[in-house]
Order: sequence, then C-alpha cells, then structure tokens
Amino acid sequence: AAIEKGDYRHFMQKEIFEQPTVVAQTLRSYLRPGEQRVALPQMDFDITAINRITLVACGTSYYAGLVAKYWFEQFARVPVDIDFASEFRYREPILPEGGLALFISQSGETADTLAALRHCREQGQTIAAVVNVPTSSMAREADLLLPTHAGPEIGVASTKAFTCQLAVLAALAAHFAVKKGLMDREEEAEVVEHLLEAPACLNAALDHDEEIKEMAHLIAPARDVLYLGRGADFPLALEGALKLKEISYIHAEGYASGEMKHGPIALIDDKVPVITLAPSGPLFEKTVSNMQEVQARGGQVVLISDRKGIEAAGEGCMATIEMPKVHPLIAPLVYAVPVQLLAYHVAVAKGTDVDQPRNLAKSVTVE
Ligand code: G6P
Repeated sequence: AAIEKGDYRHFMQKEIFEQPTVVAQTLRSYLRPGEQRVALPQMDFDITAINRITLVACGTSYYAGLVAKYWFEQFARVPVDIDFASEFRYREPILPEGGLALFISQSGETADTLAALRHCREQGQTIAAVVNVPTSSMAREADLLLPTHAGPEIGVASTKAFTCQLAVLAALAAHFAVKKGLMDREEEAEVVEHLLEAPACLNAALDHDEEIKEMAHLIAPARDVLYLGRGADFPLALEGALKLKEISYIHAEGYASGEMKHGPIALIDDKVPVITLAPSGPLFEKTVSNMQEVQARGGQVVLISDRKGIEAAGEGCMATIEMPKVHPLIAPLVYAVPVQLLAYHVAVAKGTDVDQPRNLAKSVTVE
C-alpha cells in the first residue's frame, strides 16, 4: 500500500510525530519489560571477548553512532573507534583480532557504508548492522542483524530512523555491560525502566510543537546558526545543525560546548542564534557557562533544557524550550525532537521543499 501523509503537511512532519510509537515498537523487540531485562537476539560469538568496536556510518546514522560511542564506553567499558564510512576505508584502519564492526544505516544500501562492511568482513571482523530496511544488502550481509522498526522513512532528512537507532544502540550497550558483569540486575532494571519512559518523554517533547513553530521566525532570517551540546548530547548538536542545513539551507554548525572558545566564538554577534542543548545534570553548569560566554558577546541563545535548567539559566535567553526531566541515557532521544521540529518549522517558514531538499538523496548509492 502507498504510504500516505494523512493529516500531515509533509512526510518529515509525520515521521517526527511517529517517534513515540516507533521507538516503543523498536524497544519491544530489545527489552523484556515484565522481567526488566534487556533481550538482544541470539549471538553466535562471545560478546565478552570483544575488546573493541569499530563503528561506521554516514550522515544522521553516523551521529547515532557518536552517541553510542559514549554509551558503549561508559556502560560497557569497550573502546569504540568511529568513522564516516567514506573516510574509514581509505585510512587503512587497524582492526583488532576478534573485533566487532558495527554498521548503522537506515536504508542498508549507502554505498560507502556497504563497502566498509565488505572490507571488514574480508578482514575477519564480526559484522553487526543496525538497519531499518530488513530486505537491504546490509541486513542480508550482517552476522548479527539488529533491526530498527521505524517503518518506511520517506522524508529525505532522517528523523524517526535516528531515534530508533538510538533505542537499539542503548539496549545493545546495556546488553554488553550485563554480559561483561559491569551492570548488575538492579542497574539493568533501572536502564530498562528509563528506556521504557522514552516514548512518553518523546510525546511530552512533541507537545512543544506549536511553541517551536512560533519561534521559527526568529531563526528563519539567520545566515548562520550554532548548536552547542556536551557529552552524549554533543552529537545532538551536530544532528540539529545537519537537520537545519539539509532542509532550510541555513548554514549551521554543531560544536562541543567547551570547544566553542577555540574558534566559533569569533563568529558570535547578535545575528547568530545559538541553540544550546543542556539537560540538567552533571554537565549542565559547564554548558551554561559556555552559553554565558555567548551571551556576554551579544549572542542570542535558545536554551533547550528541563524546568530546573531553564529556571537556573533561562534568563536573558532569546527563547527557551522546556523538555521533560529525563534520565541522561534517554536525553539524546528526547532532545532530538526539538531540533527536528525547529529545523522543520524554519524550513516551512522559508518555503523550501521539506521532503525533497535540493541536491540531497534519501539513499546515496554512489561512493
Ligand atoms: C543520506 C540521507 C540522510 C542519511 C544518510 C545515511 O545522506 O539524506 O538522511 O542519514 O544518507 O543514510 P543511511 O541510509 O545509511 O542511514
């Protein structure tokens, strides 16, 4: 059956709003809620013997991988080597014996990622793939297929595939940690509980749609926009900037908050909006102090945080977007929503072709 937009104006908008449902759907196949356990598919290799993960992807899928690097290292204490597929193959990567190579792709057909997968297979790596299209080349060629259940994604700019990739990767990182004896029953139950909260938190984030639509006119005239984040939310800053570039054609850059003073701060004036992703938590104060460096130079900040964060640092911001208070593990999923909606509404305000942006393809099958 043809996929319809229903009441939505664009596929991208529909796909953003599908996220609570498809993330829940994806989590269902990786968790056993009743027992509060993670439940990954059977693996015919010894996961505890894996001493390094090589992660390879492109575009938005690469940013999901960057988030996962924080999780694998933090929870499972496995070092992660991550690269763009197009760089990976040509830098003669050193692959550890008995290593796991993990590929992330919505389409399962991106030429660079597929070529990297085949290269790793030739090098004797175990191949795992997080893929949304179950009939794709990558799905067929992987030793361990970890499907996302996002359903068909039509909008060229990826949205729901991204949050579903994060859901799978979080479950996989927890599974690693459990198998390695780094996460006890109680901690596992806690992680499962937080992951199960994700769909409701995504819904709460979507409730801010109208408000984000209203603030889009503040961003639409900008020539450059900066996105800042720290830790596992830094890749979200990169993803936010990518979404805005892709569909609104505004130049945007994502930066690690603490790195801003080493360059991008030179760009700051009252014409460069700075979108700051800062859930309250251990990294909050540091991010806020970077944000204040922006404000001291006349920069116009949009603070995306929870109530506590906004109460502490919202004053003097051009705008704030309040997210539900979430566990740091699911913050990257939840904070994806406001950056997607912001890009979407800015693009609509500018009148661009949201679902078919110029020069871009849904699946890039040339290297
Ligand atoms: C293209 C799409 C992006 C996507 C990237 C990787 O550039 O426009 O939305 O993130 O390819 O695609 P994949 O299917 O491998 O995730």
